[in-house]
Amino acid sequence: MLENYLNKITCGDSLLLMKELPENAIDLVVTSPPYFNCRSYGNETVGREEHPLEYVANLLEYTFEIKRILKKTGSFYLNIGDVYFGTKGFIRNKGRYARKTDKHYKEHKIVKPDGVYLQYKQLLMMPERVAIGMQEQGWILRNKIIWEKPNPVPSYSPDRRYPVYEHIFHFVKSKKYFFDLEIAKENGHHRDVIRCGIEPFGEHQATFPEKLIEPLILATSKENDVIFDPFSGSGTTSLVALKNKRNYIGFEINKEYCEYSIKRLLKASENLERESFLPKLHLSEEHLIERLDTIITNQTYIPNLFETSYTNDSL
Ligand SMILES: C[S@@+](CC[C@H](N)C(=O)[O-])C[C@H]1O[C@@H](n2cnc3c(N)ncnc32)[C@H](O)[C@@H]1O
Repeated sequence: MLENYLNKITCGDSLLLMKELPENAIDLVVTSPPYFNCRSYGNETVGREEHPLEYVANLLEYTFEIKRILKKTGSFYLNIGDVYFGTKGFIRNKGRYARKTDKHYKEHKIVKPDGVYLQYKQLLMMPERVAIGMQEQGWILRNKIIWEKPNPVPSYSPDRRYPVYEHIFHFVKSKKYFFDLEIAKENGHHRDVIRCGIEPFGEHQATFPEKLIEPLILATSKENDVIFDPFSGSGTTSLVALKNKRNYIGFEINKEYCEYSIKRLLKASENLERESFLPKLHLSEEHLIERLDTIITNQTYIPNLFETSYTNDSL
């Protein structure tokens, strides 16, 4: 039932949770899954595969389910970054560069070089591989947006250029879908290169800048539409949906990030002072505090790491 998840952040594996949503129910999906072998968030089920193609197959299980629940008029924005072969999280980070979750990578193995695709220094083309897999699932790719960051996380190497962009793929599932080019123009989002700085938010390591996703949401959805983020993190997609009078659904597997995003949404809803709108969203302080209690006490959805099977025949 959609209503059970509407205007809530639910803690659990989105692959399992999505199966509880009806088909053709969501107007817009905006998400950024963990990138391959890049960062650890704690108990993620995507990103810590041993082989890059296992990552692609794993992520395609999620995009398959997203296609089922997306409306025919809907859109899916998938933000995904690339990595070089041999990257293994941030395990090499020391001292002030160390991250809280680096320890999660200590026991993690990665596949050995094969001298062909798997060679050190190889840029793995992960976004393109996922996008091609999605086209094989029947998705239609409308734009390959380049998100250029004036302030990227430094990635220096003396024998190559600095990486300063990521991909945002705009996918649809049918030829007629909702898109307002005039609104995109008003927000300077009518070209397929978008320049926008990163904005770290508190405890979460890889948040969407609000300024990046707000124009996407405004051009590709209407008021009261349902916006969904299956890898919700600190809840930025939900927050921007709330601020723009859209309904939201957020799924996030990490309990701390769930708590964090619920508090963030609570604060935003207090600041919004839109009484006429809030009851419709079922969003009240009591409601959010009640959800917070549920999340803290109810962890039944969280599966063990690597429970997901990698069985996608299309690869
Ligand atoms: C790149 S972050 C998303 C950040 C988000 N866009 C924001 O603005 O905060 C990816 C998130 O996916 C979560 N995640 C990983 N596997 C998941 C799963 N199976 N179900 C739900 N969330 C998952 C991680 O815990 C992490 O918070």
